Amino acid sequence: MCGIVGYIGEKNSIPIILEGLKRLEYRGYDSAGIGIINTTECKVVKTKGKVAELEKLINKGSIHSNLGIGHTRWATHGEPSMVNAHPHINEAHTIFLIHNGIIENYATLKKGLQEEGYKFKSETDKEVLVHLIDHYLKTKNNLFQAVRYALNEVEGTYGIAVIYKNEPEKIVVARKGSPLVIGIGKNENFVASDVNALIAHTSQVVYLEDGEVAEIYKDRFHAKTISDENIIKEIHEVDLSIDEISKGGFSHYMLKEIMEQSDSIFNSMRGRLVLKEGISKLGGLQGFEERIANSSRIIISACGTSWHAALVGEYMLEEYTGIPVEVEYASEFRYRHPVITKNDTVIFISQSGETADTLAALKEAKKKGALCLGVCNVVGSTIARDSDAGVYIHAGPEIGVASTKAFTSQLVVLALITLFIARRKNLNMSEGQEIIHEMHILISKVEAILKQNKEIEKIADEYVNCKNFLYLGRGYHFPVALEGALKLKEISYIHAEGYPAAEMKHGPIALIDENMPVVFIAMKDSVYEKVISNIEEVKARKGRILAIANEDDDYIEKLVDHVIKVPKSINMLQPILSVIPLQLLAYHIAVKKGLNVDQPRNLAKSVTVE
Ligand code: G6P
Repeated sequence: MCGIVGYIGEKNSIPIILEGLKRLEYRGYDSAGIGIINTTECKVVKTKGKVAELEKLINKGSIHSNLGIGHTRWATHGEPSMVNAHPHINEAHTIFLIHNGIIENYATLKKGLQEEGYKFKSETDKEVLVHLIDHYLKTKNNLFQAVRYALNEVEGTYGIAVIYKNEPEKIVVARKGSPLVIGIGKNENFVASDVNALIAHTSQVVYLEDGEVAEIYKDRFHAKTISDENIIKEIHEVDLSIDEISKGGFSHYMLKEIMEQSDSIFNSMRGRLVLKEGISKLGGLQGFEERIANSSRIIISACGTSWHAALVGEYMLEEYTGIPVEVEYASEFRYRHPVITKNDTVIFISQSGETADTLAALKEAKKKGALCLGVCNVVGSTIARDSDAGVYIHAGPEIGVASTKAFTSQLVVLALITLFIARRKNLNMSEGQEIIHEMHILISKVEAILKQNKEIEKIADEYVNCKNFLYLGRGYHFPVALEGALKLKEISYIHAEGYPAAEMKHGPIALIDENMPVVFIAMKDSVYEKVISNIEEVKARKGRILAIANEDDDYIEKLVDHVIKVPKSINMLQPILSVIPLQLLAYHIAVKKGLNVDQPRNLAKSVTVE
């Protein structure tokens, strides 16, 4: 989703901003722009295309400026176009503004400004902000105050950066609902919507909180609330290196992230399992152990792939802890007046920790007094900070828009939480030890699957021209079917649906013929025989079948067209293995179709608007 980068210092801001914008490309965008101010000129350059085109347009050598802001836009109001791209500019061409989020009352604000004589050029909701700031600059004596006053009128969400020709020594930034970080350098400071854009320059960052405004000079910054109270901001050290956010020799981030899952899964469990006692140790839940274990209900809320992880979590938690679990899309949870009590624990799963709907659901649950736990990947993200307690998944930065390693790490952490609670309830030590043993031997099993990459690529050849897919699984593998279908549609634009295998008879079976591949996740668990019957039903209708099966399953090979084998684990952990071939299958199909898997059309890595 939209990205923000800004620079003030002694260097030329343009290459720094362009490089920062490139690091944010993974978030998803459809247009880009940059605005700079120097002693002789104020310049804005925008393009409907990619940052590389912006770079060409800007003709790097000829402009130099120590102050600038840049933006990648993911269209919400108004199509992707030059005029709708950011920065937005006031009529006098003296104020440049970039914005992430949505201004909900823009129509009212626009009407008032138009009555005052302001002319609007774009179709976006954001342009009102620049005119509103212009309006306040007529009466307030500086940009900081004008921004503060303008934001007091705004309903909605924003992460903004503003620069002003008459105050070229500063960038003013503010945040409500859209992330914004300040990067602290030596005689230079940075602004970004995502730390990935900053880490080439500094590891010291300041996270702006909702309702805060800051003015950033090259050697200092000041922050206030938008209602004018002074605040002291803490500087955090970010533990992230450039290597972690580079492709590391792989053709795509997505492939790199799939292939590094033996490491990421290991990192998610590292130091958290105590074999001797058969327990998991989760420092982030310290102090809340009893409250969690005594919850009358657990709700898990999330979006996208994280929601699929939540569904697997429901199976794990109910099987081992006996606590009733509900899983809910964050976007529904936040608006349907859910009944939540102080005895509920609500787990919010989010790779980015910034998804707008999940964040809003967290606020709703907190307001109602539930214990709120965050399961996030990005350290220091809003959901991680706003939760009462939580567990980081430690998968490392995930850049590919289609989530892969974050999903398997989310499952690992959900298994750790399950063990954490179950051992405080009915699970005995040796049962706990058995789970831990299975977790320890998971890594070599992941490696065995990843070694089949080439064979999976060959299988992808057989399916690359198919127009529709059905993914079917039961029990723990129903959510895996959903995730497999999601991966395929996200990056290959092939229509794919996931279903519980038995539900096939209630509709999807009508679609099955020789052109309709059906991917079965058919693990040797308690519902294996049932899944085999479902496979027979598809065969009887001439459907093409690709099965994900266990290594020792010779029977299934005779039944289906293609099979990918995965090692066996206990039921709770098996989805961590069965999903990996589906990630690779989706990846290879998309690559064979010539698609850019890291930046699929219309999608965003971090969805910061609702
Ligand atoms: C977007 C991403 C998905 C992700 C979902 C939830 O749609 O493209 O990959 O699963 O948001 O994101 P979160 O960061 O909250 O896990």
